[in-house]
Amino acid sequence: MQSKTSVMRREPTFNKGGSYQFIIGKNLGLHREAIATSIEIVSKFLSSLPKTKKTLNVLDLACGASPVIIAEVMNHFSNYSFEYTGIDINPDQVATCRKFSFPKNVIKKEVIEENAWNLEEHSLKDKVDLVFIGLNTHHGTPEEISFLAKQIFSQLNKGGVFLNHDLFRPEKYPYLRRPKKGLPKNDWRDEWLSGYKSFLKTQGQSEDLAEQGIDHMRNWDYPISMEEMRTILVKIGFRVSTHSYTNPNHPFSNFYGMVVGYKV
Ligand SMILES: C[S@@+](CC[C@H](N)C(=O)[O-])C[C@H]1O[C@@H](n2cnc3c(N)ncnc32)[C@H](O)[C@@H]1O
Repeated sequence: MQSKTSVMRREPTFNKGGSYQFIIGKNLGLHREAIATSIEIVSKFLSSLPKTKKTLNVLDLACGASPVIIAEVMNHFSNYSFEYTGIDINPDQVATCRKFSFPKNVIKKEVIEENAWNLEEHSLKDKVDLVFIGLNTHHGTPEEISFLAKQIFSQLNKGGVFLNHDLFRPEKYPYLRRPKKGLPKNDWRDEWLSGYKSFLKTQGQSEDLAEQGIDHMRNWDYPISMEEMRTILVKIGFRVSTHSYTNPNHPFSNFYGMVVGYKV
């Protein structure tokens, strides 16, 4: 991922005024479904903890400007307090995230402007209880994802949980590997991307901003499937559960879901 990080630092869709904020506002990345699923999972995790443990360390990778999913989850568990660390590579996202209104039970927060795909580059001193990553691993090749997941595994406390809300490729499509340069031939994504662009426009996004988002997806989004993600995590030592979402108002909800890794 190293070679791509300098490009991602200034990716237009995530810059100030870029197209991504619309996706969150209209639930087009299924953030609400991710919140509901995360709450269920974190609830089980909390009930497994010793009664005396009341403060949790949370690491949010590629946190973006509005970390609404993990913020809603922390807010839901008001009997606990949280120490939050977010990492994002885009300076505009980081600047806005630093002003984000976190719930009161977040007793410590830090937002770091850096590459989230190599945790060894950071001076993260403490192990963490929860790692969240939202809509980001679909940029990686299986090798890059495995590299990141190994680091997440060692950063987690025993018993800790890794929540990955993402875009996953439905199994009926073949895996396309992100090319070093240009775009692949016989790209099944063309149909998906043009359908998604029409959907963005029916939701009220302008032609220019919709195209900006689609351009980002065309260049970066080479999703693996949920089962492929499961295989990667199991090899590293995680126990894994997968969670599909359904949303009748979203024509591409079958592309989204959550894969959860438990460090048992
Ligand atoms: C689709 S947004 C997701 C934001 C947020 N996690 C969410 O669920 O809404 C992807 C974010 O990943 C960040 N990003 C992309 N590559 C990154 C990298 N290598 N390291 C850190 N952040 C990265 C982008 O700057 C952007 O803010």
